[in-house]
Amino acid sequence: MHTTSFRNCLTFALLTCCTATLQSVQAARPSDIFAANQALGRGTNLGNYLEAPRDASWGITIEDKHLAAIKAAGFDSVRIPCRWSDYTSKNTPYQIEPKFLRRVDHLLATAHRAKLNVVLNIHHYEELNNNPRAHKDRFVAIWKQIAHRYRDHGKWLYFEICNEPQQDFNEYWNEYLVAGLSAIRASNPTRPCIVGPPHWNGIWALKKLRLPADENLIVTVHMYNPHEFTHQGASWVEDRIRRIANREWGSAEELESLHAEMAQAATWAREQNRPLYLGEFGAYQAAPMSSRLRWTREIVRTAEKHGMSWAYWEFGAGFGAFDLDQDRWRKPILDTLIQN
Ligand code: GLC
Repeated sequence: MHTTSFRNCLTFALLTCCTATLQSVQAARPSDIFAANQALGRGTNLGNYLEAPRDASWGITIEDKHLAAIKAAGFDSVRIPCRWSDYTSKNTPYQIEPKFLRRVDHLLATAHRAKLNVVLNIHHYEELNNNPRAHKDRFVAIWKQIAHRYRDHGKWLYFEICNEPQQDFNEYWNEYLVAGLSAIRASNPTRPCIVGPPHWNGIWALKKLRLPADENLIVTVHMYNPHEFTHQGASWVEDRIRRIANREWGSAEELESLHAEMAQAATWAREQNRPLYLGEFGAYQAAPMSSRLRWTREIVRTAEKHGMSWAYWEFGAGFGAFDLDQDRWRKPILDTLIQN
């Protein structure tokens, strides 16, 4: 055989072999959804803003310049916790108030202009957690409206079906997530959607999550352990934890259990062949700063080692990476989040 044709043959054989391997990898791994998760990269939650109860303020106003500052600091995405249920009529057709929708429109447009990817969720639907049976139709109707309104937005927008299912909702969550997803899929057939386990999106509860056969799903978990450390002094938690002060973090044992918990999530994701988004983690401002930084650094490093995208809890309130009064980043926190 002439050397050139021999070489061609060899190239052909190699290519066929590589393509076959690539195809089997692709078949086993819906690569687009893994890429979509990577695009969420490093993010921050815009906490305490649209998640506050109707017409109440939790001390935060997100201005356009903040989105630009988030991008400039090195973040890839923002997660927008949104309390839709306070702005939706109590009876059919469960209409969302146009004025509230316009606030969300503006935030989405501003984030997009800043070249940030955006996760939009349903947050604090407390009636759904307390009385899931009475709220299924309303939950589905809310998603139908959100999904339809934003159906033409680009790949930069991700929908997260429900933040931290809890209480009575735990038992219904696998059923309702399918109902919510179907409502979204009617107008957004392939948009990446995010779902987490019941029980506050706890890592231990991943085993209770039943995922439908939809390739465009990212799985989310939240990490605040140990609570005695991350939530010490916080006004909204149980007495026992609220009263704790000066609780440090970082013993060898604590490091080990952080790594074990994160590895548990990573193992689950590998077995299920799903990408993971650490949608919330953070230590409240009452915790000693050096321990907060140590904990945060460890979470970020470990998440990135396992290929998880993440969103810090949160931008400008009690866990704040940004000081809204001084109009500047809290550098030690920012530098801990954006490590290189
Ligand atoms: C959950 C709650 C939010 C709280 C955060 C940290 O996301 O919904 O209100 O601030 O956890 O505790």
